Amino acid sequence: MKFILIILLSCLALGSDAQTPDAIPAQKVIKLAELQYQAYIEKYTNSNQYPRSTNPDGSLYTTGSGQWTSGFFPGSLWYLYRITNKTQWRQAAEKWTQGIESQKSNTSTHDLGFMLYNSFGNGLKLTNNQTYKNILLQGANSLATRFHPEVGAIKSWDFGSYSYPVIVDNLMNLEYLFWAAKASGNAAFYKIAEAHANTDLKDRFRADNSSYHVLDYDPVAGIVLRKLTAQGYANSSCWARGQAWGIYGYTVLYRETKNIKYLEQAKKAADYFLSQTDKIADHIPYWDFQAPDIPSAPRDASSAAIAASALIELSKYAGTNNPYLSKAAQLINSLCSDKYLAKAGANNYFLLMHSTGNMPSKSEVDVPEVYADYYLLEAIWRYQNYATLSF
Ligand code: GLY
Repeated sequence: MKFILIILLSCLALGSDAQTPDAIPAQKVIKLAELQYQAYIEKYTNSNQYPRSTNPDGSLYTTGSGQWTSGFFPGSLWYLYRITNKTQWRQAAEKWTQGIESQKSNTSTHDLGFMLYNSFGNGLKLTNNQTYKNILLQGANSLATRFHPEVGAIKSWDFGSYSYPVIVDNLMNLEYLFWAAKASGNAAFYKIAEAHANTDLKDRFRADNSSYHVLDYDPVAGIVLRKLTAQGYANSSCWARGQAWGIYGYTVLYRETKNIKYLEQAKKAADYFLSQTDKIADHIPYWDFQAPDIPSAPRDASSAAIAASALIELSKYAGTNNPYLSKAAQLINSLCSDKYLAKAGANNYFLLMHSTGNMPSKSEVDVPEVYADYYLLEAIWRYQNYATLSF
């Protein structure tokens, strides 16, 4: 009797989240997101400026629509609308989405998936606004111009001393191309995405399934010349966010193609990630899994948020008794602790603290990052709706 009473009292003390099927504090994050985003849009009314991070002096770091991060704030607003069904979030999402339209004709970056699909793509799914569809299809055409059949991959960067760089982040654009194939009926988008994936799969991973950040190809012969890092610690180390992009990318590839080789790679990439985060008390990655100053190296909360969201989807495909859903919950719970989740009114109105953008350049180190918040909200929504989840 005394034992039952203790259990009942513990459940009450944990609050409503403990009584739902959730093992994550979803309501705490949603409440925080509503407070932060309300305060943000009241204070910063220029919807052509997109929140990205925090400057070294603590002030808000915003960008124009042409930066790779521009789509994450509108995307987060769309997620808040999807989660709460409140018109105010739809209106805010529409307002911050509109300014990204100019990027539909940008052929100088591979990041159009982040920019256009997270903003207009989420908007289309939630509103069926056909104007968004047309903008997205133009953007997909722009992205496709960066594919070269000799290499069999979309070129990532037009800068730096590379011949033909293809970075792991580029996998995150493929979902956009799969969507474009379905929406337009043009199979060329599908073929580009599949060819890119097969090129990536051939060269991206080491024997232990850790990933290289940058693959540099010979654009004529189509062979890989060098395997490097740009944002990681060393060419031989594993950049934590890159590994999370890999898990996410190969999980989406399996969803869209049903080709088991992509599922196998997603699982192997996830297993490597988890083998590293299992060594860390709070499971949140250091910015690079082989950073030289572990355990005092800066963390990358964004890597944990991206991986958590991907692991939830992966757990749907990975068969019975797979660990990925509970590992996602572990990451989310850690992100929602006081160490990582901001207090309302603080953190320049971002949700998560302690991400690292580009450590080798000493840029955006141990700061909030808008993309960490986007994937946290996505993970929360996926976890809450796990039983009925379809993509
Ligand atoms: N796509 C750039 C990054 O992950 O930092």
